[in-house]
Amino acid sequence: MDASRKRPRGLPALLAMAVLLTAAAFHAGQSDPTKEELMRVKKSYAHRLLDAVVLQDYPTIREEAFRLKAVAETEDWNISTDEVYVRNTDAFIRAADSLMKAADTKNAEGTALAYMDLTLQCVQCHRHMKESSRLP
Ligand code: HEC
Repeated sequence: MDASRKRPRGLPALLAMAVLLTAAAFHAGQSDPTKEELMRVKKSYAHRLLDAVVLQDYPTIREEAFRLKAVAETEDWNISTDEVYVRNTDAFIRAADSLMKAADTKNAEGTALAYMDLTLQCVQCHRHMKESSRLP
C-alpha cells in the first residue's frame, strides 16, 4: 500500500519539539531575572567567550556573543537612561554583532578584535558608573 512512500513523520515532530524547548528555555531564563542574576550570567558568558576566542571555537563564540547581546537587550539591562550608559550599551551590542559576524566567517583576528572592543565596553561602562555615582 503506502509502504514505499516513507513519510518522515518523526523528523518534523522532533524539530518542532526542539524549537519549542529552546523557546521555553529562553523564556525561563528571561522570565523576570533579577538584575544581579542578569549581571552574573553576563560574566559567565564573557568568560566562556574568552576561552572560545583563544581556542578559535567559532560556534561557541557565536553562541556566547548572541547570549551577551540578548542580555544587553533585556529590559532589566536598562537601569539608566543616562546618555553615556545608553551609548555604551549600543556599542556593546555592536561589538557582539561584530563577534558573531567574525565567527561566521571564521575570522580569528576579527573575533579577537571584536572581543577586545566588547571588553572595552565592559570597562568603560563600569568606569562611568563608578565615576558618576561619586558625583553629589
Ligand atoms: C552598559 C553598561 C554595562 C556594560 C557594557 C557592562 N556592564 Fe557589567 N554591570 C553593569 C551594571 C549596571 C551592573 C550592576 C551594578 C549594580 O547594580 O551593582 C553591572 C554588574 C556587573 C558585575 C557584578 C558586579 C558585582 O557587584 O557583583 C559584573 C561582574 C559585571 N557587571 C561584569 C561585566 C562584564 C564582564 C561586562 C562585559 C562583557 C560588562 N559587565 C559590561 C553595567 C554594564
